[in-house]
Amino acid sequence: MKVMVVGGGGREHAIIKKLKENKEITKIFALPGNGGIAMDAECVNIGAKDIAAQVEFAVENKIDYAVVAPDDPLVLGAVDALTDAGIPCFGPNKAAAIIEGSKVFSKNLMKKYNIPTAQYEVFNNPDDAIKYLETAPIPTVIKADGLALGKGVIIAETREDAKNAVKSMMQDKIFGDSGSNVVIEEFLTGPEVSVLAFTDGKTVKPMISSMDHKRALDGDKGLNTGGMGTIAPNPYYTKEIADICMETIFNPTIKAMNNENRSFKGCLYFGLMLTLNGPKVIEYNCRFGDPETQVVLPLLESDLLTIMMATTNGTLAETEVKFSNGAAACVVMASSGYPQKYESGFELKIDSSVADKVYVAGAKLENNQLKTAGGRVLGVTDTAENLETALSKAYENVKKVSFENAFYRKDIGAKALKA
Ligand code: AMP
Ligand code: GLY
Repeated sequence: MKVMVVGGGGREHAIIKKLKENKEITKIFALPGNGGIAMDAECVNIGAKDIAAQVEFAVENKIDYAVVAPDDPLVLGAVDALTDAGIPCFGPNKAAAIIEGSKVFSKNLMKKYNIPTAQYEVFNNPDDAIKYLETAPIPTVIKADGLALGKGVIIAETREDAKNAVKSMMQDKIFGDSGSNVVIEEFLTGPEVSVLAFTDGKTVKPMISSMDHKRALDGDKGLNTGGMGTIAPNPYYTKEIADICMETIFNPTIKAMNNENRSFKGCLYFGLMLTLNGPKVIEYNCRFGDPETQVVLPLLESDLLTIMMATTNGTLAETEVKFSNGAAACVVMASSGYPQKYESGFELKIDSSVADKVYVAGAKLENNQLKTAGGRVLGVTDTAENLETALSKAYENVKKVSFENAFYRKDIGAKALKA
């Protein structure tokens, strides 16, 4: 079987490494992949948003199954285009990917179907938004409607900051058209949990829970990033809470999307906050999380390709989705300065003893030498029977990876160990 994976980050590297365990797969292409992914797949220089070229490549190379991993191509309709060309595909179509593509859509969906989430108002002009902020409860949360590279959320501690956030999104257009509409919502508190779930539009099978670490620096200080590390399972996510989430959030969301004629197939990511009033949805993503995937898939004991194809074919109910009882940890190594300005092009050394535990996000191959090429360079992972051991193994592995100007958080999993 020939499989292609659209995307080129650590998440895609984790998906590809897991797919490789299936011996029926003879060839994996990554579009575009990256210098590290090139160790595990053949990289093809086609961008994640170049849907026309993806379709042409898939047809020409007789691809048997395609996995569209990033949000952008999903929201732009890559799955629709590939499916129309006769290529079976993992991921939601454009109509369903809107659950991540528009925060206004997802908030209105939750309100309509009584799915617990933060209270909110939607604004399509800055004057109304600013007027509302005169009396809104503070802190408050301002969200750009559309995709914004994971940066479209501003938590404002003062009225002044909140107004400035609205101005920067709606007037200065720092996120382009994504900020034409904004959601202003209630500030919630509580532990955060990421739950990725496979669904074929009828059945939903959640994966093992995980916890991201979004801030750049130890102690949850510094700027928000794409994620500096993850652990799984998330200790706050007990069996009791999982049952509540299934009943009040997961199943209702699948049903709601069907009701709206937007049946969702693929991986639906639930970003949850466990508040004193029960679990609430912070965000939906229409795809695997990054770097959550890097701890979730290593614990998957069932075959990934079989599950993915079951989501496409509508046979998920009969398909085994089994996770190990162990734990996993991922420590992201980033370029100093990330998520702001940073330098790239440094030699990247990965000791062969840990190569299978490293998921590369930002690197390129130059004359057969790996060089850093991004803010988040890679994630170093490991698994063990418990979280403490998984963390210490992952941090040991970090010592076997090096590049100039590397930085990483030293406290991934610390909060989880205390929980
Ligand atoms: P997102 O980009 O949607 O993942 O949001 C980034 C982060 O902002 C989340 O992981 C939360 O920590 C925080 N956040 C988003 N919405 C809220 C909210 N209503 N209350 C408190 N924190 C929030
Ligand atoms: N780790 C958060 C995300 O993938 O959006």
